[in-house]
Amino acid sequence: MTSQHPHLPLPDYFSKFASNYVRQTGNATFNILVEVITENVQTSANPIGKDSVVHDTAAGPGIGAAAIVARLPSSDLPKEMLVSDNVAMMVSAARESLIASPLPHVDCKELDSQDLSSSVPDNYFTHSINNFSIFTFVRPIGALREAYRTLRPGGLAVVTCWRRFAPMFIVHAAQKKIRPDLPLMPTPSPEFYKEGVLQNVAEESGFAKEDITMVDKVLVITEDENIAGLTMLMSGPMMSKAREGYTEEEELRWIDSVRQSVKEEIEQFGGVRFEAYVLLATK
Ligand SMILES: C[S@@+](CC[C@H](N)C(=O)[O-])C[C@H]1O[C@@H](n2cnc3c(N)ncnc32)[C@H](O)[C@@H]1O
Repeated sequence: MTSQHPHLPLPDYFSKFASNYVRQTGNATFNILVEVITENVQTSANPIGKDSVVHDTAAGPGIGAAAIVARLPSSDLPKEMLVSDNVAMMVSAARESLIASPLPHVDCKELDSQDLSSSVPDNYFTHSINNFSIFTFVRPIGALREAYRTLRPGGLAVVTCWRRFAPMFIVHAAQKKIRPDLPLMPTPSPEFYKEGVLQNVAEESGFAKEDITMVDKVLVITEDENIAGLTMLMSGPMMSKAREGYTEEEELRWIDSVRQSVKEEIEQFGGVRFEAYVLLATK
């Protein structure tokens, strides 16, 4: 696998994550993108339609394509769609989930979002989606430069990142209950949580300030099934860095500490609260 962000908890983090990604994200990335497509893309000057050519880059198991299929009537599905990720298991999961989809033409490929030069010509796509991945790139500007290069003039880029990534708050609360003396688990590229950073990266990548719109989204997860999926994510190996330095006895207390911290999050916010920045930029 190429260039994984050094602050992800495991060396093959996204390969391990691929098979249970949708469940363990509590559908958060999917549900926010569905709302963005409905409220921001389809109401824009560049809605997705039957003549569109769409790239979902760093797509995980095909979340962008799934959101488009969930939201658009079949008469508006894009004529061509590229779903790409640099982790082979994510690409296979996308292929499996889209095999029976009503999309007229979808290709699932293993590609590095930061360098698409050997696979995608300039000015190709009408839409480029980059959903909750920018903070996992080693070179985020490289990825948005490629989004800019591969979009047609007038094409629309949709880039989302977290403003509040709920699992990180919950995991930190769980850590503080067991070993408050140890460092809190790091998060990759925390600068992206700050207002303005995503927009600056887009401007440095070629998008003009006046062609960028920023929108905020909030998703409060209340469904038992989605909360159970998120709890599984936080209890298991994907968050192993949170337990570094733990004794066996402390490890055994982890799941209960996560459950208690989830309960406190729900008491405070009425559910598990995610907040996101959404950038819509026209080339
Ligand atoms: C948090 S997931 C988001 C997945 C999906 N877009 C979604 O909406 O849920 C981040 C994804 O970015 C992928 N990724 C990380 N670095 C990448 C790169 N350089 N090129 C392509 N994909 C990359 C990971 O493999 C993972 O599937």
